[in-house]
Amino acid sequence: MYYLDVKIEKLHRVFDQHERKDYLRLDLNENPGGLPQEFIDEVLTGITPQFVAQYPETLHFTEVLSNHLGTDISNLCLVNGSAEGIRYIIQAFTSKNGRIVGVVPSYFMFQIYSEMYDRNFVKVPYEEDLSMNIDKIIAELTEETQLLILLNPNNPMGNVYTEDEFEKIMTVAREKHVTVLVDEAYHYFYPKTFIRYALQEEHVFITRTFSKLFSLAGCRLGYVVGWAEGIKMVQKMCTPHNTNAFAMKFAEKILTTPGMLESLISKFEQGRRFLIDTLDANGYEHKGETGNFIFIKTNTDAQQIVERMKEEKKILIKAYSNVGKFGTCLRVSIGEPQFMKRFTDALFELDR
Ligand SMILES: Cc1ncc(COP(=O)(O)O)c(C=O)c1O
Repeated sequence: MYYLDVKIEKLHRVFDQHERKDYLRLDLNENPGGLPQEFIDEVLTGITPQFVAQYPETLHFTEVLSNHLGTDISNLCLVNGSAEGIRYIIQAFTSKNGRIVGVVPSYFMFQIYSEMYDRNFVKVPYEEDLSMNIDKIIAELTEETQLLILLNPNNPMGNVYTEDEFEKIMTVAREKHVTVLVDEAYHYFYPKTFIRYALQEEHVFITRTFSKLFSLAGCRLGYVVGWAEGIKMVQKMCTPHNTNAFAMKFAEKILTTPGMLESLISKFEQGRRFLIDTLDANGYEHKGETGNFIFIKTNTDAQQIVERMKEEKKILIKAYSNVGKFGTCLRVSIGEPQFMKRFTDALFELDR
């Protein structure tokens, strides 16, 4: 009997697989410049035919990562991009029709997975002034709630939670037995982390990625941090050999090269400073620069700017609608100053 899950048939997905051609992509929060060419060449020199022929082994890199994070390896599960880890947590820690609470707007895959697996995603919207009222999150943490998804910092709004706010949310989550997933994809751009919760208590997961600061989106690598039993459950969900050998090789080299992380952070910060100063000097309102992205309120129609940026300037950016007092505005990825200059030059020309 042929069968197709009707949920999948009806699921609306947008795949941003258009050819890159000569576009400057500032719409996916990648690092537009990537890692230094010499660094790439050096890692690739060590690649042998056997390395490519063999299934990847994760133990060694998990140890390198646990050293870097100061955790035990039992607290870590490597995944093929953090989007995969998020999927496994939703699949394993919520049930059909299970209640998942999350802020909106947010990373779109939380809602996609919820729809895909028939979960009930309850939205907590931002306020008109673009702040998040944590009492509204807490109010949604009912006895039936199985999972709360938070981001630190949030994508796309860039807002963050104070220690007190986070602890207040956690107190209720513990009382109501709600598993908490904190997506820290943009860690390093914003150094404050809630990882200690995932290491010190049960039912808290942190997901992180190597796609952003580490500039390895093309290789797919992420990880889940959590209590040992919870991590075992996430591991059970994984496909065999899910982690890319090249990704682990690059990530290991970044983590073990003295000064490499600092240099990536510093280059990024120069770009962020340049962009913010240039926007400020030209009277632009902006928000959310805690990650490697920023919201910009434009003077003219944001959607039209997106289209003209693509056609006339070969730059890809995104427009978001209904962003509180910003209305429809731009979201732009932040990279090194040379890319930010190309973007701001184009913006000032088109936005008038
Ligand atoms: C908040 C957030 N979480 C997760 C991801 C997925 O990252 P990965 O490349 O590790 O799957 C993204 C990607 O943009 C993101 O913005």
